[in-house]
Amino acid sequence: MAEHLLAIDRLAAEFAGDPPARVLHGVSLAIERGAIAGLVGESGSGKSVTAKLILRLLDPTLCRVTEGAIRFDGIDLLALAAEPMRRLRGKRIAYVPQEPMNAMNPSVRIGKQLEMVLREHLAIGGREARTRSAALLEKLHVRDPERILAAYPFQLSGGLRQRAVLANAFLCDPELLLADEPTTALDVTVQAEVLELIRERARESGAAVLFITHNMGVVWRLCHTVFVMRRGTIVEHGATEAVLEDPREAYTRSLLAALPERNRPRTPIPVAS
Ligand SMILES: Nc1ncnc2c1ncn2[C@@H]1O[C@H](COP(=O)(O)OP(=O)(O)OP(=O)(O)O)[C@@H](O)[C@H]1O
Ligand SMILES: [Mg+2]
Repeated sequence: MAEHLLAIDRLAAEFAGDPPARVLHGVSLAIERGAIAGLVGESGSGKSVTAKLILRLLDPTLCRVTEGAIRFDGIDLLALAAEPMRRLRGKRIAYVPQEPMNAMNPSVRIGKQLEMVLREHLAIGGREARTRSAALLEKLHVRDPERILAAYPFQLSGGLRQRAVLANAFLCDPELLLADEPTTALDVTVQAEVLELIRERARESGAAVLFITHNMGVVWRLCHTVFVMRRGTIVEHGATEAVLEDPREAYTRSLLAALPERNRPRTPIPVAS
């Protein structure tokens, strides 16, 4: 059997303290290349901590992994030295953080920020960086890429800013995108557009996605597989159809019960023109 692109095996972690606060209790999760997996669960269940541990974004003196492994394309991420980890982050694995304003530097123009990413990972700068960035923004259905590239993040609407964040994430053609509630701050129409953009970009580039959300409706629309998390562990997982049609865990049923029937679309979400 082909190896999964991402395989988390019985990951356990705790936050420092006296006593330490156990946050993950044996999380196992795997994603195939090109697949979109949902990670869903109530607030505080450990979804963001899981994503941040994949990229080693948490200070190990604050959050310590006590057991388990994270493998990406066969690489043991927890054992990887700092420099190769830095090269991988943003290039092979991209991250869209939960707090949209944290994704970009507020005092640097969008074009400059995208150029910095291209320069760091692909040694591309100047005009070529500009052309690539503009082309990607166009693929993200931004009508006037040059204006966006010249803007500071705070000058953009929420929807445009989220497109800039997605451009930042897709810039180096990552094999895996970790998207932590990327649409929560957006209104419903823009949410649907951004979900479709993620799906479209992922399909065209072949990237796999770990999509973190509270929203079962979003999982239903977007994800091939789903992992349901509760209190630091995965309580149920499988093909989205199977889990949502016939949830085994009472907890999954309760998440589904919160979803009005009319919000469970069976057709793909529309692309807003
Ligand atoms: N820096 C930290 N120090 C101590 N505890 C933390 C820290 N960050 C997160 N936690 C705790 O770890 C647990 C999991 O947090 P996490 O952010 O992963 O939740 P989440 O599932 O992403 O929730 P949400 O849906 O609200 O984003 C929570 O109980 C949280 O209080
Ligand atoms: Mg979170």
